[in-house]
Amino acid sequence: MAELVVDAVYLKEIDKARRALIATKNCAPIMLRLAWHDAGTYDAKSKTAGPNGSIRNEEEYSHGAISGLKIAIDLCEDVKAKHPKITYADLYQLAGVIAVEITGGPDISFVPGRKDSNACTNEGRLPDANQGFKHLKDVFYRMGLSDKDIVALSGAHTLGRAHLERSGFDGPWTRDPLKFDNSYFVELLKGEESEGLLKLSTDETLLDVPEFRRYGELYAKDEDVLFRDYAESHKKLSELGFSPT
Ligand code: HEM
Repeated sequence: MAELVVDAVYLKEIDKARRALIATKNCAPIMLRLAWHDAGTYDAKSKTAGPNGSIRNEEEYSHGAISGLKIAIDLCEDVKAKHPKITYADLYQLAGVIAVEITGGPDISFVPGRKDSNACTNEGRLPDANQGFKHLKDVFYRMGLSDKDIVALSGAHTLGRAHLERSGFDGPWTRDPLKFDNSYFVELLKGEESEGLLKLSTDETLLDVPEFRRYGELYAKDEDVLFRDYAESHKKLSELGFSPT
């Protein structure tokens, strides 16, 4: 059996924090974006950054790509105050997992034990929404993730919306931004017929190359496959650079 890196007291705290986070249902989208932005800085070659809580440092959350996430950091601060044993790194990833679960998405297995880092990650590691498939590959391959992970994880845009004052973009990707389902892919495939919904260049590019498109088409057709693949890819993202055993 795998050796636990945390003790029973820590696990109990995780369970209590899980319940506290469930109470923040309407904040699910921003909590998921927080988890992604803490983890998505990972560099597999140098084994630096990743889900290590460093996004809580002002220098890092002031980066342009992270704009608006101080709201989610502050929400987590309330939970941290009640459960101080839990690392920020674990808390942010737990928040991401709960955000998917409480909005109707798949259960994602959560293993605690991440360590916090005080080092601020250099700017420029997260993807730029104005770019295409090559850029997505550069960024996600750098994390050690695959084409399938890129498409499945992009499906997180089934939740939430863009805010002009944060990213310069505006509006939701789907008609029910508080429901985790496969509608992001359904709308993406409708192309221009999908009126009034947001499509970033990095969303549209998922249809540009066959190695992405085949997953997009599959997920639009079969929500069960999306949920299975999304749960696997999200777990990988949340554990970049972290070996629970
Ligand atoms: C929101 C870009 C991938 C989860 C956003 C916004 C942008 C963006 C520009 C709008 C932010 C705002 O104005 O509030 C991108 C790009 C990606 C990407 C370029 C590259 C593929 C992901 C991934 C996840 C994710 C992998 C999670 C696994 C979210 C969520 C929101 C969001 C949940 C909505 C936040 C809210 O409603 O406040 N993303 N994203 N994104 N992103 Fe992404």
